[in-house]
Amino acid sequence: HRDLTGIGKLARHEILYLLSEAEQWVALNRTSAKHTDLLAGLTIINAFFENSTRTLLSFEIAGKRLGADVVNMHAATSSVKKGETLIDTAITLNAMRADAIVIRHGSSGATGLIADKVDCPVLNAGDGQHEHPTQALLDALTLRHALAERGEGAEDFTGLNVVICGDILHSRVARSNILCLTAMGAKVRVCAPPALMPAGIEAMGVEVHHRFDDALDGAEVVMMLRLQSERMSGQFIPSPREYRHLYGLTAKRLAIARPDALVMHPGPMNRGVEIDSEVADLAGRSLITRQVEMGVAIRMACLDVLTRETRGVEGWA
Ligand code: CP
Repeated sequence: HRDLTGIGKLARHEILYLLSEAEQWVALNRTSAKHTDLLAGLTIINAFFENSTRTLLSFEIAGKRLGADVVNMHAATSSVKKGETLIDTAITLNAMRADAIVIRHGSSGATGLIADKVDCPVLNAGDGQHEHPTQALLDALTLRHALAERGEGAEDFTGLNVVICGDILHSRVARSNILCLTAMGAKVRVCAPPALMPAGIEAMGVEVHHRFDDALDGAEVVMMLRLQSERMSGQFIPSPREYRHLYGLTAKRLAIARPDALVMHPGPMNRGVEIDSEVADLAGRSLITRQVEMGVAIRMACLDVLTRETRGVEGWA
């Protein structure tokens, strides 16, 4: 079976295929019916070992809109709390004959480990500091729509200047987005305090900055990330007030970027720390709620494409 464990495992044409497949679901989700029976009879298990609002709900909505039976397993109320291992949990889910398993886990590589143990496709809903592939795909779909509305639509992002600023070290969103955006031709700058920048990240084809004002100069897209305090292990980082001063996206700072620069944030946001409300809610420029809308369509596309083998339908392009 084919899994979705990371953008790093996808070819460029497969990224573009998933984005184009999502368009039909964007259109369906904007109708009043919002439903098809494409995946009727299939069982999808969402196994979340870490908290989530957007990813869990959108995978659940995506599966239900495609007509599948969707079951959610929350680690906090599962036998994980009684000491059951990740592998034993995976074997248990497999024995229930799930047709797809969606996993969020705090350990990098956990999704790949489970994918090797089960008979159905596994979709990574975020694993530690490794990857969050559906986030990168929904971000790409959001950008495509926003650029198309401005008459700058193209299949890929050749030459587009994107800044990703925040806790790059701990961010699976940053990693998946770097892989996705560079595969689609964008020029990516990353910006973080030195303690929150992974060593050797230049090898991913990005430009490294520690001064946000420098990184913003000429930017067409500004993607902000929160500080992941739950993953910190003694790194020296500024206080929230200092952080906002140095790395927060304020209206004044956004003015350094291109005049029509687009603002993105995967959520959850810490308003007044990495992003000011004035910017997060900026009509016509902030894509944050659009990102959430696109999340449902992308997850519908991923569930459809990855279960095609089970359904005996022609698979990837
Ligand atoms: N962007 C994102 O993954 O949000 P959640 O943690 O709420 O799923």
